[in-house]
Amino acid sequence: MTAAVRARLDTVRAVPRVQDLYTGVGTDFYERLVGPDRAEIREVLALARATAGPILDLAAGSGRLTVPLVRSGRQVTALDLSDDMLAHLRRALPGHAMVDCVVADMRRFSLEHRYGLIVIGATSITLLDRAGRSLLYANVRRHLAADGVFAFTVAGGASAESLSESRELEISVPGPDGEEAYLFSQQIEEDGAARVVNWVRVADLEDGGEVTVLASRLRVLHPDLLSRELVDAGFAAPAVSPVRTHRGEEILLLTTSWAGSPDAGDDDGPE
Ligand SMILES: C[S@@+](CC[C@H](N)C(=O)[O-])C[C@H]1O[C@@H](n2cnc3c(N)ncnc32)[C@H](O)[C@@H]1O
Repeated sequence: MTAAVRARLDTVRAVPRVQDLYTGVGTDFYERLVGPDRAEIREVLALARATAGPILDLAAGSGRLTVPLVRSGRQVTALDLSDDMLAHLRRALPGHAMVDCVVADMRRFSLEHRYGLIVIGATSITLLDRAGRSLLYANVRRHLAADGVFAFTVAGGASAESLSESRELEISVPGPDGEEAYLFSQQIEEDGAARVVNWVRVADLEDGGEVTVLASRLRVLHPDLLSRELVDAGFAAPAVSPVRTHRGEEILLLTTSWAGSPDAGDDDGPE
């Protein structure tokens, strides 16, 4: 929880109940906050058209990218740590033959297939620390087809800068009964290397009640750093291209492929 949210709760003597953004009621909130956002879909569909074979959507969540990929006729494995998030996706595509939902950690997974395209949307690579990203890169390489493409997004420009300042603001989130006001709070930690984000429903900031504080912790990662990490892990220097967004955010898409020997370290690869 951020110090600012703690202070707000203290002033009304409210008791916090910290809830991960991607489990339980957090998933419904995420759906309301991000579900309608079409950013990245156009670019990921273009990548899909340029590649063959099944697609692996890592940290797929409620399927913001998976659903359009499946609807475009592609076979997709949607992998996520949270069964609650994947439940939204299963509801969106009930019993669909072209989607396979896998509850797993993107740092440690072992699947049967090799994929023509592996994607990580919504800047979710920032959920992983350096050790986690090393494990991710090794797993991606093991699951990528010989001519496969690995692509993920990260904030760039002014959007990246806004991720390195602590701040609080009130935002409006669509809900079943209209818009609802939430307090968004971001706290920078580890000398700017990490950020804690919280959301609290403003109407809940009342005297003495229990208040749900939705929370996530993310790394602050520059595209240049991620490009270097990819090269160090044996991938080609990525192509970096802007993602078209509607809310003025600056999002960059990093697209790469395996640059090393096709057989390098394949002993533990999928069958
Ligand atoms: C920002 S959401 C992205 C969801 C979706 N891809 C989108 O574009 O809206 C991040 C997702 O990453 C998942 N996640 C967090 N840590 C993970 C991990 N180590 N392995 C797999 N998924 C993870 C969360 O459960 C959540 O669904």
